[in-house]
Amino acid sequence: MDGVWGLVARTVWWFLPAMAANQAPVLARGVPLLDRPVDGGRAWMDGRRLLGSHKTWRGLAAGVVAGAAAAVIQSLIPAPASWVLAPGVRPLVWGAALGAGALAGDLAKSFLKRRRDVEPGEPWFPADQLDAAVGAILAASLLAPVPADVALCLLLLAAPLHLAANRAGYWLGLREVDR
Ligand code: CTP
Ligand code: MG
Repeated sequence: MDGVWGLVARTVWWFLPAMAANQAPVLARGVPLLDRPVDGGRAWMDGRRLLGSHKTWRGLAAGVVAGAAAAVIQSLIPAPASWVLAPGVRPLVWGAALGAGALAGDLAKSFLKRRRDVEPGEPWFPADQLDAAVGAILAASLLAPVPADVALCLLLLAAPLHLAANRAGYWLGLREVDR
């Protein structure tokens, strides 16, 4: 498959572990493990929380596990060689890195939201949509070169993919909001 659709398929395929990671913290909310805030309850110089009590180690761990699991499952599915961005990297490592990158992007965005006095959960376009994509691109580029066309395609697709994933989660009864 070539052309624009080939690029889209390749981009979505490599980004799937990060998408799984992005949904995982919501799914893991009932799990009674690691339910501690990443910011340790600390505030920044402005007196507001660094990240907020809703950003937990449990969510972060769930994201890394979900990313790794998604990449391992993908490695069992025959896909065109061109869809695999880092053929030399073990799927477990690749997926865990993408998951960690996506959720690091999410934490960085939450830090900026708190600095701008945006409440947890309050929409903040376009950072809410781009956080995981930017984080995943940075993490992936530590392991393999990310082609410019793939990175650009992902940044363009990030908002619709984010919306589609959240809407699916909402329909499945996993999230309260569908944005
Ligand atoms: N979550 C978590 N740990 C994380 C990230 C998310 O436990 N590291 C859980 C929290 O219950 C959070 C939910 O997943 O409320 C949804 O996460 P997200 O959409 O990223 O949070 P927002 O409510 O949009 O918060 P923010 O304004 O900080 O982006
Ligand atoms: Mg988020």
